Amino acid sequence: MKRIVVFSLVVFIILAIVWCIVEWPVIGLSIAVGSVFMIGIYDLLQKKHTILRNFPVLGHIRFLSEMIAPELHQYFVESDTDGKPIDRNHRSYVYQRAKKENETHPFGTELNVESDDYKWMSHSIYPAPKLNEAPRVIIGGKACKQPYSASLFNISAMSFGALGKNAVKALNIGAREGGFYHNTGEGGISDYHLQGGDVVYQLGTGYFGSRNEDGTFSSKKFKVQAGKSEVKMIEIKISQGAKPGHGGVLPAAKNNQEIANIRGVKPNTTVLSPPGHSAFSNPTELMQFISDLRDLSGGKPIGFKLCVGNKTEFIEICEAMKRTGVKPDFITVDGAEGGTGAAPIDFSNYVGMPWESALLFVVDTLRDFGFKEEIKVITATKIITSFDIFKALCLGADLCNSARGMMLALGCIQALKCNTNNCPAGVATNKKYLMNGLVVSEKWKRVKNYHEEILNDFLELMAASGCSETSQLSREFIYRREKAISWESYQ
Ligand SMILES: Cc1cc2nc3c(=O)[nH]c(=O)nc-3n(C[C@H](O)[C@H](O)[C@H](O)COP(=O)(O)O)c2cc1C
Repeated sequence: MKRIVVFSLVVFIILAIVWCIVEWPVIGLSIAVGSVFMIGIYDLLQKKHTILRNFPVLGHIRFLSEMIAPELHQYFVESDTDGKPIDRNHRSYVYQRAKKENETHPFGTELNVESDDYKWMSHSIYPAPKLNEAPRVIIGGKACKQPYSASLFNISAMSFGALGKNAVKALNIGAREGGFYHNTGEGGISDYHLQGGDVVYQLGTGYFGSRNEDGTFSSKKFKVQAGKSEVKMIEIKISQGAKPGHGGVLPAAKNNQEIANIRGVKPNTTVLSPPGHSAFSNPTELMQFISDLRDLSGGKPIGFKLCVGNKTEFIEICEAMKRTGVKPDFITVDGAEGGTGAAPIDFSNYVGMPWESALLFVVDTLRDFGFKEEIKVITATKIITSFDIFKALCLGADLCNSARGMMLALGCIQALKCNTNNCPAGVATNKKYLMNGLVVSEKWKRVKNYHEEILNDFLELMAASGCSETSQLSREFIYRREKAISWESYQ
């Protein structure tokens, strides 16, 4: 916002000077030359910016361009296949489905189908009839007393705080109307999550909503949260792809009374989410924690989310399942290229296993242990189109989550400002004047539409592949260029 104000001000001053020159050439020119001279003197005397000292006046062009570079790039330079982390084609896919408009693409693919990372699915000469409704997935192993019937596509974890209240409300109403779940993210359950949609309560290392004053896990408070009728499943967040092994900080300035109440912390204090859990420190203790949460929640499905790092640690968790007989009901696999509100750049860029390899590793390890039937695999990371769902299911996932896809459905324009509280689309901000632009009564429909349309597209792909059940989907359907992907090489 500040950038836009400064830029507009500069443009206004320049126009005013041009107008003066046209109307009163002598006075106008004097003002113009005087201003340039003053700016030049200031640039030479200031010590902060080398470019301005070395190139007085002219150096400002660079700073002005930098100010609006992301917008200029997106509006004028970016092609349909450009744009990071989500390219324009994918963003448009969501916008069109969310608005239920123009779902076709003209003139053929723009993708480079000869590139090494191009993937495609095989269709059948004998397509299956398209299903009328997307199949649902029952989550809940033998120890679960309240299994949950989940949609194939759901809202991934994003906390109130990372998203504004209108965004959270619209997501939850969309989930209610569309029949899918909404993961709270690690920031606890707010009233905005309780609009009637199914909720997955996420427990991060800060145990928000279920913590003692010293930040440890409180079983008493957890029982209250997990007992809420909207809460259908509980997810222990071990790690998240965009910042695995990194904790979080809720700064005192952001920790207002409302957030403090939701999270169960003291207002106006800085609150840390440590990198690791205090409730367990080895696989056996993790299994004990899962078993405790299951009892405390009255037998609701309990799972954990992770971005794979050290493979041995995951194998050790599976060994602990075998040894103790306790298993999670689901495991959510996040890829290193997953999204976040804010994360240190090196954690986002270089820590954790990329999505495809991670999903294959988790699925194969569970299969090796004979656990894949009982433990459902949920996955998120750039699941934006129906082909992404199709591919994830072929690789072995049972169902998918989306965070950034759902943000786009809410009107996110990928301004890349989630970490500044200045999201122009009113999604990832708590500033009132920005949030007010996001009208809940309109945007929940977009969320519902996106879910409905992507699953409809998915059913078309499934029919084209010749499959009438998701259990028929396998890695054989996904190809990289001429060869079926050598899945071995991914591990
Ligand atoms: C704004 C934002 C906030 C997020 N907050 C959380 C969180 O609280 N807990 C979590 O496990 N993941 C969080 N994530 C990660 C997502 O749940 C998801 O795993 C990841 O972004 C990959 O999915 P996507 O590619 O569909 O965005 C967040 C992501 C975004 C974009």
